Amino acid sequence: MAKQFTDLLLAWDKDQNDRVMPWKGEKNPYKIWLSEIILQQTRVEQGWAYYEKFIHHFPTIVDLAKAKEEKVFKLWEGLGYYNRCRNLLFTAKWIVQHFKGVFPSTYEDLIALKGIGPYTASAIASFAFNLPHAVVDGNVYRVLARFYGIETPTDSKEGLLQFNELAHHNLSKKYPGQYNQAIMDFGATICKPALPNCNDCVLQNKCVAFSLNKVNQLPVKIKSIQKKKRNFDFYCFEYQQSWFIQKRTGKDIWQDLHQFYLIEQDGFLPLSEDSIMHVLKTQLTISAKAIDQSGIRIFSPYKQQLTHQTIQARFIVVPLKTIPAKLSKANWVSVKQLQKLAFPKLLNEFLQSDFQKI
Ligand code: ADE
Repeated sequence: MAKQFTDLLLAWDKDQNDRVMPWKGEKNPYKIWLSEIILQQTRVEQGWAYYEKFIHHFPTIVDLAKAKEEKVFKLWEGLGYYNRCRNLLFTAKWIVQHFKGVFPSTYEDLIALKGIGPYTASAIASFAFNLPHAVVDGNVYRVLARFYGIETPTDSKEGLLQFNELAHHNLSKKYPGQYNQAIMDFGATICKPALPNCNDCVLQNKCVAFSLNKVNQLPVKIKSIQKKKRNFDFYCFEYQQSWFIQKRTGKDIWQDLHQFYLIEQDGFLPLSEDSIMHVLKTQLTISAKAIDQSGIRIFSPYKQQLTHQTIQARFIVVPLKTIPAKLSKANWVSVKQLQKLAFPKLLNEFLQSDFQKI
């Protein structure tokens, strides 16, 4: 499975990955370091300009080491967390003093530097020196959790160990730099946190989360399980008076209770017929032809206050003309059968009010 994953990812990178970024393919460890420190603070789109500004003002590590703190802080302005900036300058000076301005070239020497942790050390070691160290960031957690269907929270001790091992196991030992960049690009453009592009995914037919309809539930985070406010979109699929129902599993709320098809999001995006069609196409490979578009109904949010969480849920009724392959045949129930199943309070409220009007 690991070899398949790695080979498919590298092939995707070669043939389909068209993401362009100024630090991509860079071999100069100073520039890689700079880009990675900036990207810990901000998203690629915003980090791009900061990176170019820094490289323009300080083309080499010696230039940075000689710079006045005030000037470096001014260029950093807007990125926040000034300790990162302070460490940047400290480490530049350190490398000039202790390594004659030549960037260390082993993982051990890199991780010993101030402000450089396992992620940055792996990025520099692999991109600049082609050393076999796997980066493990949010993208990597997400891609691996979904592909292998891993439910261990990524922010737990076990998760850290499990994902690090798997990341290292899957790493291409021949092309570690290309592999590391590829998995990050894949996570950012295909296997995205919200609304992933499963339709265009070269890993789709081997992806456990896709086959189990769990793409939106993975990766799991203890923090998000405990998160105060959560936004649920329930897609109520109807086909010839049967409804698609799932049983909840895993360590989350409402264990063993039933629900309609769930997509959880960080915040509610506005709903329109277009956005709904887009979600159905990308997540479930449901084509427009399979949907009775005139029958789509959107119901305004329901709320349920749990001890530590507030759940807000929207219900979207989607009548189907055929059963999509992704929605298992076993999960369709009649209204009569539905009444025998146990639902969370919030869903019961919906079932007893708006659902009656459909
Ligand atoms: N985020 C952090 N490092 C990155 C990289 N090298 N490419 C894209 N996104 C990133």
